[in-house]
Amino acid sequence: MTIISEKVGNTDKQSPLVTLDAHSIEMGFSPKIVGILCNWCSYAGADLAGSLHKDYPPNIRIIRVMCTGRVDPQFIMRAFAVGADGVLVSGCHPGECHYRTGNYKADRMISLLRVMLSQMSINPDRLLLTWVSASEAVKFSRIVTKFTEDLRKLGSLSK
Ligand code: FES
Repeated sequence: MTIISEKVGNTDKQSPLVTLDAHSIEMGFSPKIVGILCNWCSYAGADLAGSLHKDYPPNIRIIRVMCTGRVDPQFIMRAFAVGADGVLVSGCHPGECHYRTGNYKADRMISLLRVMLSQMSINPDRLLLTWVSASEAVKFSRIVTKFTEDLRKLGSLSK
């Protein structure tokens, strides 16, 4: 794998993003991710990541919903149907949903959908549910980076 370094001060610091890009070029595949984020926690966490320059791969396209409980399974299936290689659904931590139980509902829905995906010969690891609060910018950045790497290993869904 080609490693590209960037100079930071007097030391060579390897940027995970630069490495990821080099890996992407070598692998020839850059996954497309649809991120469905709740307004109150994960969207705010993603926004904070941007404000704090906590870089994450540009593979994700974010859709804001008021609550993960609002996510219809059809949103996810539609994302896969139109070319997404992975879907990330992210909301408030359990017990912190602004609509009380929306994230519990999303948790049950995602579990069922993952079983359905398996039956359709789609790797369920292409669908990820996470909890990210408004202050967890670093966590959001790490999740997107890891999910991108995992999808890169799985390859394109459309091939
Ligand atoms: S408001 Fe964030 S998951 Fe319900």
